Amino acid sequence: MKNIAILTSGGDAPGMNTAIRAVAKYAMSKGITVYGIKRGYAGMLNDEIFELTPKDLGGIIDRGGTFLLTARLPEFKNPEVRAEAVKNLKKREIEGLVVIGGDGSFHGADLLYKEHGIKVIGIPGTIDNDIAGTDYTIGFDTTLNIILDAISKIRDTATSHERTYLIEVMGRNAGDLALYSCLAGGGDGLLIPEKEFSIDDLAMQINKRREQGKLHDVILVAEGVGSAFEIAEKLKGKVKSEMRVTVLGHIQRGGTPSGLDRIIATKMGAHSVELLEEGKSGLMIGIESNKLVTYPISHAWESKKEIDIKDYELALTLGH
Ligand code: F6P
Repeated sequence: MKNIAILTSGGDAPGMNTAIRAVAKYAMSKGITVYGIKRGYAGMLNDEIFELTPKDLGGIIDRGGTFLLTARLPEFKNPEVRAEAVKNLKKREIEGLVVIGGDGSFHGADLLYKEHGIKVIGIPGTIDNDIAGTDYTIGFDTTLNIILDAISKIRDTATSHERTYLIEVMGRNAGDLALYSCLAGGGDGLLIPEKEFSIDDLAMQINKRREQGKLHDVILVAEGVGSAFEIAEKLKGKVKSEMRVTVLGHIQRGGTPSGLDRIIATKMGAHSVELLEEGKSGLMIGIESNKLVTYPISHAWESKKEIDIKDYELALTLGH
């Protein structure tokens, strides 16, 4: 394989730059020419494609976001749009494409392979950790650490004022960020979309903690269950303590990628080049039990990543 391209697509995630660097540097070490595509599939369509040089890759291993920029292009569902976009790859004789993003981005890649023969490999990059076939997606660990830092800060003021805080965290329809930040941050309550919950039970639990002499409550609310402000509204009148809501928002997606994110991004990036060199296509890379694995790329949207029930129950038990 002589020419390959890389793009990042969907929501950005810390560690995407690290993955781009690994793909490009590893490919260059094998004599492969590497193109960067700006703004995901939008840049493929608009011909924002340029050859990457070693200079582009310097000093990006620890930079959050994606220097290739990212976008969501719903029109890519349209076969004519894909046919137009692929012309820009073919005119540069680009045979392989590495897509760093979530399941929607992988879907687009799969269609480029099936319809136009471009060899594609997906690398899971999203803070949500919602892709089947991998224990971790790139970005999840960094975001988890940002949330843990926020929990510690909020707990300080929650204790001083003896308040109940609801902290709304990202994750789209997945509860992983809320679950693991509750587990690792010592959260006192957890609401995730994968599990039913009762407002009355939560209120009872908060009141019981106060009877035990506890001075604060930090409740993790996954955005997938709805707005934390609405949950607070429903709790009003049922809990005795004063309540506050903090929506962490997009600070969760920025900042220097953690060590774990950099390691998985680097390993997955290099492996994507190995797979393309072996002539493989239509695959996604994952990491399971600390080993790199591959699945057909369709696994990302055909299988649902399940929540770990044992971890969920442990978070609830320790939060009481
Ligand atoms: O998928 C990543 C994510 O950060 C989700 O957790 C969140 O729901 C969404 O993207 C936010 O998207 P936007 O950046 O378009 O507001």
